[in-house]
Amino acid sequence: MEIVILPSAAEVGRVAASVVAEVVVRKPEAVLGLATGSSPLAIYEELARRADAGELDFSRVRGFALDEYVGLDYGHPESYHAVIDRTVTRPLGLAPALVAVPDGFAADLAAACAAYEAAIDAAGGIDVQILGIGGNGHIGFNEPTSSLASRTRIKTLTPKTREDNARFFDSPEAVPTHCVTQGLGTILRARRLVLVAQGENKAEAIAAAVEGPLSASCPASVLQLHEHATVIIDEAAASRLR
Ligand code: F6R
Repeated sequence: MEIVILPSAAEVGRVAASVVAEVVVRKPEAVLGLATGSSPLAIYEELARRADAGELDFSRVRGFALDEYVGLDYGHPESYHAVIDRTVTRPLGLAPALVAVPDGFAADLAAACAAYEAAIDAAGGIDVQILGIGGNGHIGFNEPTSSLASRTRIKTLTPKTREDNARFFDSPEAVPTHCVTQGLGTILRARRLVLVAQGENKAEAIAAAVEGPLSASCPASVLQLHEHATVIIDEAAASRLR
């Protein structure tokens, strides 16, 4: 695992964007794994800037979002369908038909999860998976105790994650209780992983992921198993590393 510690959150976004850009330049039909949340926003902003400047072309790039809430209307601004459209698809100029987000409304959620896995495979697999990390060490919505081999499935959000994400909703109770998320096994199959974290509130999770034992107690520790994982963090997020 490669660890890159940078002086500022802005630089984290810029350096991580360069990793993604490199892949897209080499392979214009690259398949991106897309995280939501605050952490990757600086990456998307920098990629959008480069696309606007004519340096990058995302028109043939495919995207697969990591996760989605179950039962949250796609018209809700915090549904990941809406977030991906607003922060990735439009600003970068991806073709909407080439961007997939897990279905949080399927009558048969298990079948929809299996279909999502099949769609990733049919696209040739994910070239670069962008990841954030939860304060409890989750990646995607793979909460602590998630199976290290898990695939896309329904998960219950922990009280900690619902509390962390309450900032995006009108009240803590409005945060959905369940989600559909790519599994840890799905994430590990991506050819390259780029995890970004900024701020002191991520320091403990980063230390556990990078230096702790490989353990379902810290789902992000699965990055230790990947041959091409890069963790790009600011000094605050690095502050608990030994
Ligand atoms: C969301 C996701 C989550 C977030 C994590 C950190 O798609 O994958 O694992 O990356 O909850 O969220 P932020 O970046 O908002 O702190």
